[in-house]
Amino acid sequence: MIAATTPLSIKTPKPVSSETSPSTPLSYHLIKERYQAAGQGHLLTYYDDLSEADQSALLHQLHHLNVERVNRIHQKATTCPSPMLTNQSALLAPLPEECFDSILEASPDKVNEWQTIGLKQIAQNKVGVILLAGGQGTRLGSTAPKGCYDIQLPSTKCLFQIQAERIFKLQALAREQEGVTEEVIIPWYVMTSGPTRLATVKFFEEHNYFGLSQDNVVFFEQGTLPCLTFDGRIMMESKSQIAVAPDGNGGVYAALRGTGVLANMAERKIEYLHAYCVDNCLVRVADPVFIGYCVSKNADCGAKVVRKKSPDEPVGVVCLRNATFNVVEYSEIDDEVANRINPRNGQLAFGAGNIANHFYTVDFLNKVESFEGDLEYHIARKKIKSLDISTGEVVTPKQVNGMKLEMFVFDVFPFTQRMAVFEVDRREEFSPLKNAPGTGQDCPETSRRDILQQHVRFIQNAGGKVVVGEDDKQLEGAPTLEISPLVTYSGEGLSHLVSGKSIKTPLLINSLEDLEKALF
Ligand code: UD1
Repeated sequence: MIAATTPLSIKTPKPVSSETSPSTPLSYHLIKERYQAAGQGHLLTYYDDLSEADQSALLHQLHHLNVERVNRIHQKATTCPSPMLTNQSALLAPLPEECFDSILEASPDKVNEWQTIGLKQIAQNKVGVILLAGGQGTRLGSTAPKGCYDIQLPSTKCLFQIQAERIFKLQALAREQEGVTEEVIIPWYVMTSGPTRLATVKFFEEHNYFGLSQDNVVFFEQGTLPCLTFDGRIMMESKSQIAVAPDGNGGVYAALRGTGVLANMAERKIEYLHAYCVDNCLVRVADPVFIGYCVSKNADCGAKVVRKKSPDEPVGVVCLRNATFNVVEYSEIDDEVANRINPRNGQLAFGAGNIANHFYTVDFLNKVESFEGDLEYHIARKKIKSLDISTGEVVTPKQVNGMKLEMFVFDVFPFTQRMAVFEVDRREEFSPLKNAPGTGQDCPETSRRDILQQHVRFIQNAGGKVVVGEDDKQLEGAPTLEISPLVTYSGEGLSHLVSGKSIKTPLLINSLEDLEKALF
């Protein structure tokens, strides 16, 4: 285990519009003129009331903001509404079955073949992981970054630790399969945002990077965009600060480029990336099966899907729009489209639920810049605490009063040349943590339950029997059995010990020795 003091982080570059260093005095008049011309002169309403330091801070903020771009984005997002929002019935088509493969229908040999290809790429140090961790857990009701959340497993491991240990184990599995003696490294690129950056980095430091080498955990920060009123006026958080919000998980592409991560990938000769959301406790980080599948299809982009549970499940759906791959987000899908049934099998026609697990080639990530101007911005209408310009008071609104503009990570799909869609088993790969404790759906209790139940299956699939002990409280109906990812990544490597034997819950297994001792 390597102790760490400071993270390897990549400097955020200055915005392109920056022409002066922070020490150069900025001209109030020039900035005022520019903002008035852009229809955003109200941002300087309280300038004269501010201390000198606050005046300077405000001028710097305004100087570095590309206000003309903000106006263009607002114009684009509001006056040319996304085709996703209009006429969906005519524009969209369900994903044809021949367009994707399903792990549920593939033979074990085929799955093994994909896994072998994936592990080979990993062993050659060609695979990296991008963690999208810039979101704030508003629905979860926690102010800490979601990855720090303890879902009350017997081990008390948080989501970050579970994911780190999966990376650790996978490095060992790849080394084993390929018989390599050199170090196998899966670099972990962790995207944070203004609101999550400091707390995330601190948490990793405090936990010694969960056993990974600090050099291979690279933090980078996504951009922000100002919050806007419905008529496009930039909102202020205080008299000296504009209100900004992270630019959505689709901000990842510009951030990868702008913060030097793409250069870091090139230096490490990374060729393939797995990107995923922080909140899925079952996520198979750098999943060799998915990577092997996408590589064998020669795909430049890939997405994992699960069958949608119900028309109103809050997941995007992968589908076709004008014959190109797309995701319609749950917040934007029409009722008719969401509810449409495929008459052939009685299932939801738009049923390919996006679990936000994506594959990219580095070549594709490098190409995003060439079509970035064509990517969409999505409007999230929110209650935004902000300065009332007419009174100078900061107001916490009771009703939606403004909008945040966001890019979505999957909006690059229409620009891919060769997209691969891969259906996986929800039980094994998708249990998102979205809602507060006690809500009964996509909450800490369901995350805990789904991991514990999976670990029971690991033992059963390895030929063992799980006996529920009398003292096992079986919260949410799941026997209390937790197996560390350092012991097994997805259930492999257990049968030689477990087959024909039993274990009794409650039980926490941190090593193969623990497992051996527990068997009877
Ligand atoms: C997301 C997907 C949705 C999918 C669902 C599965 C997007 C846009 N939507 O929805 O299609 O069905 O997950 O669980 O991907 N994040 C950032 N920066 C931001 C905002 C979010 O990094 O500015 C990260 C979050 O930390 C999280 C991920 O993106 O890891 C998804 O964000 P979240 O708001 O939870 O997305 P959902 O609405 O659940």
